[in-house]
Amino acid sequence: MSQDKTHDDGFGNRAEAFEAFDDIPTNPNLDNTIGDVINRRYGRRDILKGALAVSATTALFGSTAMLAAQKAQANAASRYRFDELVSGNDEKHHIAEGYDADVLIRWGDPIFPDVSDFDPQNQSPDDQLKRFGYNNDYVGFVPLNTSNSRGVLCVNHEYTNEEVMFPGIGRQDRDGFPKMTKDLADIEMAAHGGSIIEIARGDGGKWGVVLDSVFNRRISAETEMTIDGPAAGHDRLKTSVDSTGMKVLGTINNCAGGITPWGTYLMAEENFHGYFWSDKKDADGKAILEGPEAESQKRYGVPGGWYNWGQYHDRFNIDKEPNESNRFGYIVEVDPLDPHSIPVKHTALGRFRHEGAESIVNGDGRLVVYTGDDNRFDYLYKFVTAGTVGGDKRANMQLLSDGTLYVAKFNDDGTVDWMPLIHGEGPLTAENGFNSQADVCIDARMAADLLGATPMDRPEDVEPGADGRVYVMLTNNTRRTPEQVDAANPRPESSFGHIIEITETDGDFASTKSTWNILVKCGDPAIADVGAEWHPDTSEHGWFGSPDNCAFDADGRLWISTDQGSGWGKTGKSDGLYSLETDGDLRGHSKLFFRCPVGGELCGPYFSGDGETLFLAVQHPGTDGTKDFKGFERDSTFEDPATRWPDFQEGMPPRPSVVVVTKQGGGKIAV
Ligand code: FEO
Ligand code: CA
Repeated sequence: MSQDKTHDDGFGNRAEAFEAFDDIPTNPNLDNTIGDVINRRYGRRDILKGALAVSATTALFGSTAMLAAQKAQANAASRYRFDELVSGNDEKHHIAEGYDADVLIRWGDPIFPDVSDFDPQNQSPDDQLKRFGYNNDYVGFVPLNTSNSRGVLCVNHEYTNEEVMFPGIGRQDRDGFPKMTKDLADIEMAAHGGSIIEIARGDGGKWGVVLDSVFNRRISAETEMTIDGPAAGHDRLKTSVDSTGMKVLGTINNCAGGITPWGTYLMAEENFHGYFWSDKKDADGKAILEGPEAESQKRYGVPGGWYNWGQYHDRFNIDKEPNESNRFGYIVEVDPLDPHSIPVKHTALGRFRHEGAESIVNGDGRLVVYTGDDNRFDYLYKFVTAGTVGGDKRANMQLLSDGTLYVAKFNDDGTVDWMPLIHGEGPLTAENGFNSQADVCIDARMAADLLGATPMDRPEDVEPGADGRVYVMLTNNTRRTPEQVDAANPRPESSFGHIIEITETDGDFASTKSTWNILVKCGDPAIADVGAEWHPDTSEHGWFGSPDNCAFDADGRLWISTDQGSGWGKTGKSDGLYSLETDGDLRGHSKLFFRCPVGGELCGPYFSGDGETLFLAVQHPGTDGTKDFKGFERDSTFEDPATRWPDFQEGMPPRPSVVVVTKQGGGKIAV
């Protein structure tokens, strides 16, 4: 994407504009269309298995009376005990009746003692480093006691929205950053990364931040990190300031993530390409790629020109530092209980736009990490460690340095092949440009292209469950043509996405041949053209579009959060959190539990181990698609935002915030 292309696109945020204009012309799998398998998998077999098509179900169950009777029965059988929230979109957040949804911490709130109250008119890079960062996405909780009343919250800060963050500048990326300054760019860099904060339940069961905790820490785009795994120290990771190829400053665009079984925090680097810059442009404003990294840069969309940090910091300018972008796009591991520890970028898990990194201990003791590459037509991966999880945290922290990365090929017969990305095996040889495992990791996308992986509809969060089933959020892909549909990505121009359920063979998460099914196809089931598939009792409030993040609660029930971007106008609903039944007669039944204020997407979610607290992250409130917000109908700015959530105070812009949900009177959520 060139900067010019975002100028008149009407997209609500850069990530979205970026993805919309991303071309992946080198992806050979796009030529391998298997349009002849459309619908083949969605015949009788799937209906009988429970992937319920609305029309087919209606045909099976017949009359209205029967449906009503079934609905009453279904509600009684629901595993999620709450009264569904009414969908909609307004300036506030909403939670199902009987629950509290309290703001725990907002962008700009102090995370250390003796830091003044936030003043958005007086921001500085140093000051931002003492405060909660911007656009909270992943939330993980590491308990510090057995009662789950005290713990460390790990929160990713994915990106920044300058138009509602800084006074008087509006959207900058659309116009070539005319009002940006080095100081503002440095504040942005300080607002990226993550926050680690101790929180505790006080009187009345309410959670608060422990400001004087020794664990509190900000990680930013300039925090010193090390690189390990097969690509560590490789020439392609060396720069003019790092001759070792093992030291890097910062982490960026940290979207979802994970908490390992040994209590470390995994931060996934997603749209890293957007932070790189080039001054060499063709007549259309597109970067001219030259040199040995050109092919790789093209496949990864580097440079994106989403931010102009490269105008002030040479390392983000690929003309000056062509290897710096090879040092981003990884899974970063942080020990949240050691505030002086140096975070590690694990190259063994491959380099791509990692959405998240949820993991599970396999029966044989190895850890398996699932991670999607969130781009149109990119792939789903899993990583299986070589070693096994033990009782020694330090030893466990070496596990993500060595193992096998697999990419998924979804077959139309309902099986999935997990194909290993190993140098020297199959096409991953020097003849094809892969001289070592380092090359395979740095160019994991290109290695996966050669293996014939299945191009997906933007793989977002992936959650493995204890019973061997794995849920994959595929958020949307409006660029898939009818000729490009396949069994696992069954709808062309998919605006609303779908959820795939993988069943790992015999519960072995390391298995290389598994099966898959579609749990739901998202969108409005009342509009036939949408082709949505839900349990037929799903209400007008319960269906959703664009699944993004997901989590299991303490009882193994699945919850989904959505990110429709500025496309929320297509559903008329703000983003929210939904319960989604995976078993029994109600399989595919969804209910709305929480919804965001206008223009925000919902991230997290994360349940405490006792199931009594749910952490949610409301990201970029007041920004996305505000032209569709009735009564407002214009772009948000700092001075004139669509909402001032959560403060609703004149002069205070909307603030991304973590929200804590608890049940009134106590107890597990939705039980
Ligand atoms: Fe940052 Fe793919 O969502
Ligand atoms: Ca996401």
